[in-house]
Amino acid sequence: ANQARLERIESLIRTVPDFPKPGVIFRDITPLMGDPAGLGATIDELINQIPGTIDVVAGVDSRGFLFGSPIAVALGIGFVPIRKPGKLPAAVYEESFELEYGSSTLSIHQDALEPGQRVLLIDDLLATGGTLGAAARLVLREGAVLTHTETVLELSGLGGREHLARQGVESFSSLL
Ligand code: PRP
Ligand code: ADE
Ligand code: MG
Repeated sequence: ANQARLERIESLIRTVPDFPKPGVIFRDITPLMGDPAGLGATIDELINQIPGTIDVVAGVDSRGFLFGSPIAVALGIGFVPIRKPGKLPAAVYEESFELEYGSSTLSIHQDALEPGQRVLLIDDLLATGGTLGAAARLVLREGAVLTHTETVLELSGLGGREHLARQGVESFSSLL
């Protein structure tokens, strides 16, 4: 990884205390998205981390779309959206996961992936790993091969990487 470029990316992520509720330190990627060079540098870093060959990029609704789709375009491969419930029109698989209070669900079209396809799963940020864990299970229910997950940012101390490792999923992050 290019250290100067990583520092530039990090400098474009804004920290907002107590959003969306007291005690949460929110990492806001909107300055990064709005920077003329920032988005491209971020996409380059995510692509440079890919270890082997992949056939499809899957991205998680909604911030995972911002990074997943440009990666797919750059690699000349397709993009599959993993969406919040009630958004995908055809037959879906669903997986639920635990939040701090309550639970949430993600869905994927049943015909989105083919058995054996090698899938890279993208999101903006790894926190507890609940989101990417559920997204990973959706990819596997398709009979596809999940190579690994990538995020721009990983929040340390929340156990996200370990959560995914317990599911047998390897996760890479550009920034810690
Ligand atoms: C945020 C973030 C990740 C997830 C990480 O998404 O974009 O997807 O939380 O948290 P976790 O590792 O604890 O699951 P959010 O659900 O807020 O929705 P958004 O992407 O639509 O903003
Ligand atoms: N998703 C989960 N935790 C987050 C945080 N601290 N900042 C931004 N997005 C998040
Ligand atoms: Mg999200």
